[in-house]
Amino acid sequence: MALEKATGSDRPIQDQLVKSGDIPRHIAIIMDGNGRWAQKRGLPRIAGHREGVNSVRDIVEACGQLGVRYLTLYAFSTENWKRPREEVSLLMRLLLKALRDEKDRLHQNEVQLKAVGDISTLPQDVQDELLDGIEKMKNNKGLTLILALSYSGRWDITNAISRMYDDIRSGVLKKEQITQDLITSYLSTRDFPDPDLLVRTSGELRISNFLIWQIAYSELFISQEYWPSFRRTQLYESIADFQRRERRFGMVSEQLHSSEPTGEPLRGMERFVKSASKP
Ligand code: IPE
Ligand code: IPE
Ligand code: MG
Repeated sequence: MALEKATGSDRPIQDQLVKSGDIPRHIAIIMDGNGRWAQKRGLPRIAGHREGVNSVRDIVEACGQLGVRYLTLYAFSTENWKRPREEVSLLMRLLLKALRDEKDRLHQNEVQLKAVGDISTLPQDVQDELLDGIEKMKNNKGLTLILALSYSGRWDITNAISRMYDDIRSGVLKKEQITQDLITSYLSTRDFPDPDLLVRTSGELRISNFLIWQIAYSELFISQEYWPSFRRTQLYESIADFQRRERRFGMVSEQLHSSEPTGEPLRGMERFVKSASKP
């Protein structure tokens, strides 16, 4: 499908996408390239982070309009704490400001805010603002926006194993109960389905310790745009690309088009989940 550049009202292009295939239920994004965007313009790195907030606003709004159910944004990784102190501090101030400035708009748009990561390591005022936003939006029925903050996939899995160990020791959990579904239920992302589409901006070909368990069968899309220039037009391109993929989950093409006894064709992910939970 050829995508024209979204102008004034992009409703037609959204309608076209909804008609042309499945809209990913869950999109996860590694928002990368803020520093390089700024450098290219002779600006300090923080200017790129600031402009990145405008991309977040645009992408959240477009996802809500398209009917995406979950959007996970990798905003700050466990490893990002190793950046120069000045940059970390500016990023935390910007996060606080963005949460304050955007809260009402998100709420009006029926967004439900969530966070994953080691939230207790964030500055107290950021934690307070975040928890306040989560509480305020908890009954909203629109897009679920999940901010990954002080998050890494290895942190998540390590945490899960440690809690499983505690539960085994206290007798709540038995070794025989350990299945893929059970491990999933110990992760911080337990309430959300696995991402269907993982987008990384700025052309980098790596996962950088994001949702390493959850993306086992996500479709990957690498955009050459730096995050501050990644807007809804680029999002639509990634979704159109996603719609051209065949998600086989280890099977062969013919199986995807056959019907279950109910007569209902079972979509790839549902088949994958069913087969993954088999003993
Ligand atoms: C992504 O942009 C934002 C964060 C990781 C917080 P970067 O800051 O990584 O920008 P580049 O990759 O150095 O250009
Ligand atoms: C990944 O970007 C983390 C976030 C986008 C929050 P990085 O810029 O930290 O990743 P690397 O260091 O290039 O792998
Ligand atoms: Mg980067």
